[in-house]
Amino acid sequence: MNTPTHSNAPSLSTQLLHTAQAVDAVRQGRSLTEALTRCPAALRPGVQALSFTVLRRLGSAQAAREYLASKAPAAAVDALLLSALALLWPTAAGETAPYEEHTLVNQAVAAVKKVQLNSASFVNAVLRRFIRERDEITHLLLKDPAARSNHPTWWIKRLQQDWPTHWKGILQANNQQAPMCLRVNARRGSAVEYVARLAETGIAARSFEHPLLTHAVQLEKAVPVTQLPGFEQGDVSVQDLAAQWAAPLLVRGGSHSHALAPGARVLDACAAPGGKTAHLLELAELDVWAVDSDAQRLKRVDETLERLSLKAHTLACDAAAPQSWWDGQAFDAILLDAPCSASGIVRRHPDIRWLRRPEDIGALSGTQSRLLKSLWPLLKPGGRLLYATCSVFQQEGQGVMDAFVRQQEDAIHTAGVGGHLLPGLEDAADPLCSPGDGFYYALLEKRALG
Ligand SMILES: C[S@@+](CC[C@H](N)C(=O)[O-])C[C@H]1O[C@@H](n2cnc3c(N)ncnc32)[C@H](O)[C@@H]1O
Repeated sequence: MNTPTHSNAPSLSTQLLHTAQAVDAVRQGRSLTEALTRCPAALRPGVQALSFTVLRRLGSAQAAREYLASKAPAAAVDALLLSALALLWPTAAGETAPYEEHTLVNQAVAAVKKVQLNSASFVNAVLRRFIRERDEITHLLLKDPAARSNHPTWWIKRLQQDWPTHWKGILQANNQQAPMCLRVNARRGSAVEYVARLAETGIAARSFEHPLLTHAVQLEKAVPVTQLPGFEQGDVSVQDLAAQWAAPLLVRGGSHSHALAPGARVLDACAAPGGKTAHLLELAELDVWAVDSDAQRLKRVDETLERLSLKAHTLACDAAAPQSWWDGQAFDAILLDAPCSASGIVRRHPDIRWLRRPEDIGALSGTQSRLLKSLWPLLKPGGRLLYATCSVFQQEGQGVMDAFVRQQEDAIHTAGVGGHLLPGLEDAADPLCSPGDGFYYALLEKRALG
């Protein structure tokens, strides 16, 4: 990021103003995605990039503001102050600072004047003191785990409890930028062919040897989808690596199962926006029922399928209340990609850690268990169900699964398939490490009770 020089480019103070509005919205409990829809379209890419940086450093910035001014100013001014402090926070070795520090202070003060004129001298004084005493202040504040890792304390404690040997790596990975990953449409070609096609247009990328990533491609550097050859024609979709495990796991089943037969009836119970629905249909000729309780999000499933020239039945309804929509014909396979804390996709959504509350995790695991219990009767004896969440918390993964299998006599948890995947950790020898997002997968088979 450099200071804009073009005369028509938005000033940094304008960008900071919109960034602070987005940060304030997150602090009030709204998602960054929703907050950015309120930002003028022309400013959005720049403001999104700034907001990502600020949210990845918000724990440090909050600690610095509390140290420098124990009484918080009005929320809008505080958000501006925090945004500026986050952008003034020392960069990691090898990174360059987003802006020259005095430019940033001057522009932040100019932005505050547009919000609350009489706070300008206060913000100016706080930021200049931070610059003067930065080494001392940051050295002191980095002793606090929340300021150091930029995660709430309850989140850190939960990770320590769930992952005693991996928690530090997860926290670090969460503050990195996730790579852009693609899924090549299996009906149109292979990952290796697509990597060669990308190379022709000057885009560097790699494919994978992993048996569940046969159609995955990772780009060296993110590009707009409009630059991806064949994107509009449905040759490729954007999808994280860990999310690409779902469809092959369900279609192929465990090592002792048969692949789903052509025409198999499959329920995708929480389908929107449809990444996994599409992947299932790319891999096999299936009769897919894509259900989601959010009718607006379900429209995105239709749009995705149309771009990829694929077909499914889409239904806006509550998967936990099948009596209101199910026709009574059992499914050969069910994918339950359940609503969750999304604690595994913090790299892509840096707002999530600030939005969740500790009590959300128990409530979500209750919803996940209810969905599992309601959908299990819809599965044929001999059929399979894949349970998935993009969470790293055990209560939403292994915890839900253990409790379900204990109560459900005819549910067999397939050993050696899936489990927890921890985000952004590369260690081929450790099955918990995933170069992709954090996920949990469990494959269940339904035994015919004699
Ligand atoms: C993790 S997202 C699914 C992502 C999707 N499988 C994909 O790969 O694109 C969870 C979805 O569950 C939906 N959902 C939440 N509660 C539901 C319910 N009771 N019935 C059906 N869908 C539900 C949400 O609207 C959300 O779209």
